Amino acid sequence: MTLPDAPRINPSILSADFVNMQRDLERISGADLVHVDVMDNHFVPNLTFGPQMVERVQATSPLPLDVHLMISDADRWAPGYAEIGAASVTFHLEAAREPVALARRLRQIGARAGVAVKPDTPVEGMFEHLDEFDQILVMTVEPGFGGQSFRTDMMPKLRALKNEAARRGSEVWLQVDGGISLDTIAQAAEAGADTFVAGSAVFGAADIDQRIGQLRALAARHSHGADSLDS
Ligand code: DX5
Ligand code: ZN
Repeated sequence: MTLPDAPRINPSILSADFVNMQRDLERISGADLVHVDVMDNHFVPNLTFGPQMVERVQATSPLPLDVHLMISDADRWAPGYAEIGAASVTFHLEAAREPVALARRLRQIGARAGVAVKPDTPVEGMFEHLDEFDQILVMTVEPGFGGQSFRTDMMPKLRALKNEAARRGSEVWLQVDGGISLDTIAQAAEAGADTFVAGSAVFGAADIDQRIGQLRALAARHSHGADSLDS
Protein backbone atom coordinates (compact mmCIF):
# COMPACT_ATOMS: atom_id res chain seq x y z
CA MET A 1 0.00 0.00 0.00
CA THR A 2 1.37 3.43 -0.94
CA LEU A 3 0.86 5.94 1.80
CA PRO A 4 0.88 9.74 1.43
CA ASP A 5 4.08 11.76 1.77
CA ALA A 6 4.76 14.13 4.67
CA PRO A 7 3.39 16.29 6.03
CA ARG A 8 0.44 14.03 6.80
CA ILE A 9 -2.76 15.33 8.39
CA ASN A 10 -4.71 12.57 10.15
CA PRO A 11 -8.10 13.69 11.49
CA SER A 12 -9.17 11.94 14.68
CA ILE A 13 -12.68 10.53 14.47
CA LEU A 14 -12.95 10.90 18.24
CA SER A 15 -14.32 14.35 17.29
CA ALA A 16 -16.68 12.96 14.63
CA ASP A 17 -20.38 12.30 15.11
CA PHE A 18 -20.48 8.61 16.05
CA VAL A 19 -23.95 8.08 14.60
CA ASN A 20 -23.02 9.80 11.34
CA MET A 21 -19.63 8.17 10.93
CA GLN A 22 -19.98 7.43 7.22
CA ARG A 23 -20.87 11.05 6.51
CA ASP A 24 -17.97 12.30 8.63
CA LEU A 25 -15.51 9.89 6.96
CA GLU A 26 -16.54 11.36 3.60
CA ARG A 27 -16.03 14.87 4.96
CA ILE A 28 -12.36 14.15 5.64
CA SER A 29 -11.63 12.50 2.30
CA GLY A 30 -9.06 15.21 1.58
CA ALA A 31 -6.93 14.10 4.55
CA ASP A 32 -4.06 11.60 4.58
CA LEU A 33 -5.00 8.83 7.01
CA VAL A 34 -7.93 8.45 9.40
CA HIS A 35 -6.85 8.46 13.05
CA VAL A 36 -8.92 5.94 15.00
CA ASP A 37 -8.77 6.25 18.81
CA VAL A 38 -9.52 2.99 20.59
CA MET A 39 -10.00 3.49 24.36
CA ASP A 40 -10.84 0.82 26.91
CA ASN A 41 -11.78 2.83 30.01
CA HIS A 42 -8.82 1.16 31.75
CA PHE A 43 -5.61 2.45 30.21
CA VAL A 44 -7.40 5.81 29.88
CA PRO A 45 -10.52 7.05 31.69
CA ASN A 46 -12.66 7.06 28.55
CA LEU A 47 -14.32 4.46 26.34
CA THR A 48 -14.79 4.55 22.57
CA PHE A 49 -15.09 1.37 20.50
CA GLY A 50 -13.33 -1.87 19.65
CA PRO A 51 -12.49 -4.07 16.68
CA GLN A 52 -16.04 -4.41 15.39
CA MET A 53 -16.33 -0.67 14.82
CA VAL A 54 -12.80 -0.40 13.43
CA GLU A 55 -13.63 -3.12 10.94
CA ARG A 56 -16.62 -1.10 9.70
CA VAL A 57 -14.53 2.08 9.48
CA GLN A 58 -11.91 0.14 7.49
CA ALA A 59 -14.61 -1.11 5.09
CA THR A 60 -16.18 2.34 4.72
CA SER A 61 -13.28 4.78 4.71
CA PRO A 62 -11.69 5.83 1.43
CA LEU A 63 -8.49 6.56 3.41
CA PRO A 64 -6.06 4.18 5.14
CA LEU A 65 -6.48 3.79 8.91
CA ASP A 66 -4.05 4.98 11.56
CA VAL A 67 -5.21 3.11 14.67
CA HIS A 68 -4.17 4.52 18.07
CA LEU A 69 -4.71 1.97 20.81
CA MET A 70 -5.16 3.47 24.28
CA ILE A 71 -5.77 0.07 25.81
CA SER A 72 -4.14 -2.14 28.40
CA ASP A 73 -2.60 -5.48 27.47
CA ALA A 74 -1.58 -4.28 24.01
CA ASP A 75 0.41 -7.49 23.45
CA ARG A 76 -2.84 -9.41 23.40
CA TRP A 77 -5.14 -7.03 21.48
CA ALA A 78 -3.04 -5.03 19.01
CA PRO A 79 -2.49 -7.81 16.41
CA GLY A 80 -6.26 -8.06 15.83
CA TYR A 81 -6.29 -4.46 14.57
CA ALA A 82 -3.51 -5.24 12.11
CA GLU A 83 -5.52 -8.21 10.90
CA ILE A 84 -8.45 -5.89 10.14
CA GLY A 85 -6.18 -4.22 7.59
CA ALA A 86 -5.24 -0.97 9.32
CA ALA A 87 -2.29 0.73 7.62
CA SER A 88 -0.72 1.45 10.99
CA VAL A 89 -1.33 0.17 14.49
CA THR A 90 0.12 2.19 17.37
CA PHE A 91 0.16 0.82 20.90
CA HIS A 92 1.34 2.58 24.05
CA LEU A 93 4.79 1.76 25.35
CA GLU A 94 3.30 1.90 28.87
CA ALA A 95 0.78 -0.81 27.97
CA ALA A 96 3.04 -3.40 26.33
CA ARG A 97 5.09 -6.06 28.06
CA GLU A 98 7.24 -6.81 25.02
CA PRO A 99 7.11 -3.80 22.68
CA VAL A 100 9.72 -5.04 20.22
CA ALA A 101 8.14 -8.47 19.86
CA LEU A 102 4.75 -6.84 19.43
CA ALA A 103 6.05 -4.43 16.76
CA ARG A 104 7.55 -7.38 14.86
CA ARG A 105 4.24 -9.19 15.01
CA LEU A 106 2.37 -6.14 13.65
CA ARG A 107 4.79 -5.85 10.74
CA GLN A 108 4.53 -9.54 10.06
CA ILE A 109 0.75 -9.19 9.71
CA GLY A 110 1.31 -6.31 7.29
CA ALA A 111 0.72 -3.14 9.31
CA ARG A 112 3.14 -0.36 10.08
CA ALA A 113 4.17 -0.73 13.71
CA GLY A 114 3.72 2.33 15.90
CA VAL A 115 4.57 3.04 19.51
CA ALA A 116 3.16 5.92 21.55
CA VAL A 117 4.40 7.64 24.69
CA LYS A 118 2.38 9.58 27.25
CA PRO A 119 3.70 13.00 28.34
CA ASP A 120 5.53 11.60 31.40
CA THR A 121 7.27 8.78 29.51
CA PRO A 122 10.78 9.53 28.24
CA VAL A 123 11.77 8.54 24.69
CA GLU A 124 15.49 7.82 25.13
CA GLY A 125 14.80 4.19 26.04
CA MET A 126 13.46 3.64 22.52
CA PHE A 127 16.52 4.90 20.68
CA GLU A 128 18.25 1.54 20.41
CA HIS A 129 15.05 -0.03 19.02
CA LEU A 130 14.17 2.74 16.57
CA ASP A 131 14.47 0.41 13.59
CA GLU A 132 11.78 -1.85 15.01
CA PHE A 133 9.13 0.84 14.58
CA ASP A 134 7.61 2.60 11.57
CA GLN A 135 6.07 5.39 13.59
CA ILE A 136 6.57 7.00 17.00
CA LEU A 137 3.71 8.96 18.50
CA VAL A 138 4.62 11.68 20.97
CA MET A 139 1.44 12.55 22.89
CA THR A 140 1.08 16.31 23.30
CA VAL A 141 -1.78 15.88 25.78
CA GLU A 142 -2.55 13.26 28.42
CA PRO A 143 -4.39 10.61 26.35
CA GLY A 144 -8.12 10.13 26.85
CA PHE A 145 -9.99 13.15 25.54
CA GLY A 146 -10.13 15.50 22.58
CA GLY A 147 -10.07 19.27 22.90
CA GLN A 148 -7.21 19.59 25.43
CA SER A 149 -4.41 22.15 25.27
CA PHE A 150 -1.21 21.40 23.35
CA ARG A 151 1.84 20.72 25.55
CA THR A 152 4.74 22.79 24.23
CA ASP A 153 6.98 21.09 26.79
CA MET A 154 6.86 17.91 24.66
CA MET A 155 8.87 19.54 21.85
CA PRO A 156 12.28 18.51 23.27
CA LYS A 157 11.18 14.86 23.02
CA LEU A 158 10.36 15.32 19.35
CA ARG A 159 13.66 17.05 18.70
CA ALA A 160 15.58 14.27 20.42
CA LEU A 161 13.78 11.66 18.33
CA LYS A 162 14.30 13.63 15.13
CA ASN A 163 18.04 13.92 15.83
CA GLU A 164 18.39 10.27 16.66
CA ALA A 165 16.42 9.22 13.57
CA ALA A 166 18.61 11.44 11.39
CA ARG A 167 21.76 10.05 13.00
CA ARG A 168 20.64 6.51 12.18
CA GLY A 169 19.32 7.37 8.72
CA SER A 170 15.95 6.07 9.91
CA GLU A 171 12.74 6.85 8.01
CA VAL A 172 10.53 6.42 11.05
CA TRP A 173 7.49 8.74 11.02
CA LEU A 174 7.22 11.12 13.96
CA GLN A 175 3.63 11.76 14.93
CA VAL A 176 2.03 14.24 17.33
CA ASP A 177 -1.44 13.92 18.81
CA GLY A 178 -3.32 16.32 21.07
CA GLY A 179 -4.13 20.00 20.76
CA ILE A 180 -2.88 20.31 17.17
CA SER A 181 -4.42 23.43 15.59
CA LEU A 182 -3.59 26.35 13.32
CA ASP A 183 -1.86 27.90 16.36
CA THR A 184 0.29 24.92 17.37
CA ILE A 185 1.10 22.85 14.27
CA ALA A 186 4.07 25.02 13.23
CA GLN A 187 6.01 24.39 16.43
CA ALA A 188 5.40 20.65 16.20
CA ALA A 189 6.62 20.66 12.59
CA GLU A 190 9.68 22.70 13.56
CA ALA A 191 10.48 20.23 16.33
CA GLY A 192 10.50 17.38 13.78
CA ALA A 193 6.96 15.98 13.51
CA ASP A 194 5.86 14.87 10.04
CA THR A 195 2.46 13.33 10.88
CA PHE A 196 -0.19 15.37 12.67
CA VAL A 197 -3.35 14.16 14.36
CA ALA A 198 -6.11 16.74 14.72
CA GLY A 199 -9.56 16.11 16.12
CA SER A 200 -11.37 19.25 17.21
CA ALA A 201 -9.35 21.50 14.86
CA VAL A 202 -10.65 19.52 11.85
CA PHE A 203 -14.18 18.53 12.84
CA GLY A 204 -14.84 21.89 14.50
CA ALA A 205 -14.12 23.78 11.28
CA ALA A 206 -16.93 25.22 9.14
CA ASP A 207 -15.04 24.09 6.03
CA ILE A 208 -13.25 20.84 6.79
CA ASP A 209 -11.45 20.55 3.44
CA GLN A 210 -10.10 24.05 3.76
CA ARG A 211 -8.95 23.42 7.34
CA ILE A 212 -7.06 20.28 6.34
CA GLY A 213 -5.38 22.30 3.57
CA GLN A 214 -4.43 25.09 5.99
CA LEU A 215 -2.96 22.65 8.49
CA ARG A 216 -0.99 20.83 5.78
CA ALA A 217 0.36 24.09 4.34
CA LEU A 218 1.49 25.34 7.75
CA ALA A 219 3.17 22.02 8.53
CA ALA A 220 4.93 21.98 5.16
CA ARG A 221 6.17 25.52 5.61
CA HIS A 222 7.65 24.78 9.02
CA SER A 223 8.89 21.26 8.46
CA HIS A 224 12.45 20.04 8.12
CA GLY A 225 13.70 20.06 4.59
CA ALA A 226 11.25 22.81 3.65
CA ASP A 227 13.85 25.59 3.96
CA SER A 228 14.11 25.97 0.21
CA LEU A 229 10.43 26.95 0.13
CA ASP A 230 11.18 30.01 2.25
CA SER A 231 13.55 31.70 -0.14
C1 DX5 B 1 -6.58 11.91 22.73
C2 DX5 B 1 -6.65 11.25 21.38
C3 DX5 B 1 -6.56 12.22 20.28
C4 DX5 B 1 -7.66 13.25 20.24
C5 DX5 B 1 -7.09 14.52 19.73
O1 DX5 B 1 -6.33 10.98 23.70
O2 DX5 B 1 -5.60 10.32 21.22
O3 DX5 B 1 -6.41 11.58 19.03
O4 DX5 B 1 -8.75 12.88 19.45
O5 DX5 B 1 -8.06 15.50 19.80
P1 DX5 B 1 -7.69 17.06 19.67
O6 DX5 B 1 -7.04 17.24 18.34
O7 DX5 B 1 -9.01 17.73 19.78
O8 DX5 B 1 -6.76 17.39 20.80
ZN1 ZN C 1 -5.12 9.58 19.22
